Amino acid sequence: MMKQPIYEGKAKMMYTTDNADELLVYYKDDATALNGLKKGTIGNKGTMNNKISAFFFNLLSQHGIAHHFIRLVSDREMLVKSLEILPVEVVVRNISAGSLAKRIGWEEGRKMPQTVVELYYKDDDLGDPMINHYHIRALGLATDEQVHAMEEMALKINEILSAYLLTKKIELIDFKLEFGVHKGQVLLGDEISPDTCRFWDSETKQKLDKDRFRRDLGDVEEAYKEILRRLTGEEL
Ligand code: C5P
Repeated sequence: MMKQPIYEGKAKMMYTTDNADELLVYYKDDATALNGLKKGTIGNKGTMNNKISAFFFNLLSQHGIAHHFIRLVSDREMLVKSLEILPVEVVVRNISAGSLAKRIGWEEGRKMPQTVVELYYKDDDLGDPMINHYHIRALGLATDEQVHAMEEMALKINEILSAYLLTKKIELIDFKLEFGVHKGQVLLGDEISPDTCRFWDSETKQKLDKDRFRRDLGDVEEAYKEILRRLTGEEL
């Protein structure tokens, strides 16, 4: 396969392939937090997030969610459909945590009386600020139809993932999704992993996600391993 790097992000690299409609994603061990101020690596993270994301994309396929994942290529690589990424990040929240807990003055761990959907402008220089439908229209970031599609898909994905994860004794606290357009259709892109979701053990409430890195809680790699193990049975 002809590989040309086209993009290097904080946690992944993207390469062209000999098919113009497909890209290769390479998952790195690099981790950042606080909008890039905190840097480090998490052992085997690339391998684990590649496999965890593939698992979730396959689960979503079974429920009719359209996404970019095609197949795993290696331990750290997956083949995906090439997308024009919409510069809007969609966050779905079931339980108060992180920036929401701060913004509304709630302690972490309180169930939201209603699912909360938030939109963020995907722009590193600005630190991904929260925006609303008016900003998206004014800046021309996406059409109303695309925003509607992203929100509907995000809520459906929340139902699917939350229900599945509970069978593995994992609570889905919140997560971030990115979408893009492929041949005119809005598809789920990016990744679904402990980097982009908050996962808590449903009994002990232990954090099994990137908050362990962000907050220096220790046992970071072990948390990712535990998620992979509960989802796929795979011991790394
Ligand atoms: O930090 P905050 O509470 O807003 O994060 C909400 C959710 O979005 C968390 O699951 C976090 O992992 C994810 N997120 C992300 N990438 C960002 C910001 C947040 O994946 N740049």
